[in-house]
Amino acid sequence: MSRSAELAALIRARTGDAPVSHGLILGSGLGHIAGEVEGVQIDYADLPGFPHAGVSGHTPKLAIGTLEGARVAVFGGRAHYYESGKGDAMRLSLEVLKALGAEKLIVTNAAGSLRPETPPGSLMMLSDHINFSGLNPLIGEASDARFVPMTDAHDPAIRAALRDAAKAEGVDLAEGVYAWYSGPSFETPAEIRAIRILGGDAVGMSTVPEVILARFLGLKVAAISVITNMAAGMSEEKISHEHTKAMAPLGAAKLERVLRRYLRDAG
Ligand code: HPA
Repeated sequence: MSRSAELAALIRARTGDAPVSHGLILGSGLGHIAGEVEGVQIDYADLPGFPHAGVSGHTPKLAIGTLEGARVAVFGGRAHYYESGKGDAMRLSLEVLKALGAEKLIVTNAAGSLRPETPPGSLMMLSDHINFSGLNPLIGEASDARFVPMTDAHDPAIRAALRDAAKAEGVDLAEGVYAWYSGPSFETPAEIRAIRILGGDAVGMSTVPEVILARFLGLKVAAISVITNMAAGMSEEKISHEHTKAMAPLGAAKLERVLRRYLRDAG
């Protein structure tokens, strides 16, 4: 049995066999929703190979159960490339999600904004992304499946449903291109100017590897950023992880409303 099949069996022994429809990955300071799932919470520490989530502001638990009538698996924490140097740090978690029956994945993150019209507290759904890091979680994968097409990687149907959910909730949901910066240092103002010229609207240290892995595994995926700051050089405000964690709740409440409505209507 593969490691992901073994872990899925271990999880099912605690949660029952009903298949999960959606996976949700929660970004920095956005972990609250994991506690809202009616079901079972499993510590990552009990799931060998799951990330230890060594980043403050993340909750290293997998919550499996029902949210707004949909059967979900919520990842309270994620592994980032910058923690280990491994671009495929989330691969096992996503393989387990797939083995639990999920077909769709919603990824969330905290991000810096490159657009004055989306200030801190805004939500921005990813219309597409730029892999500014040059890294790829599929490097080393031997099968031809590694040549994953990335056109419409951000699933048009899920995005339309999230747009509808935001509208129904009266929440502004901007859309833009997210650039993945490896971190853990923040960007320089010159890098932000470069990303702007390249077409980036938001910048962050996650999500892109997960979107690539999701497409590799055949999961449909969409992502939403909670804007926590203006990107480097764009405001007087100092950029820090403390600031990210402090600002995330501003957008998190709106994000939760959108996700709940989406799951109720489309889940
Ligand atoms: N840059 C990168 N990652 C981030 C930022 C940022 O400005 N804000 C929150 N996560």
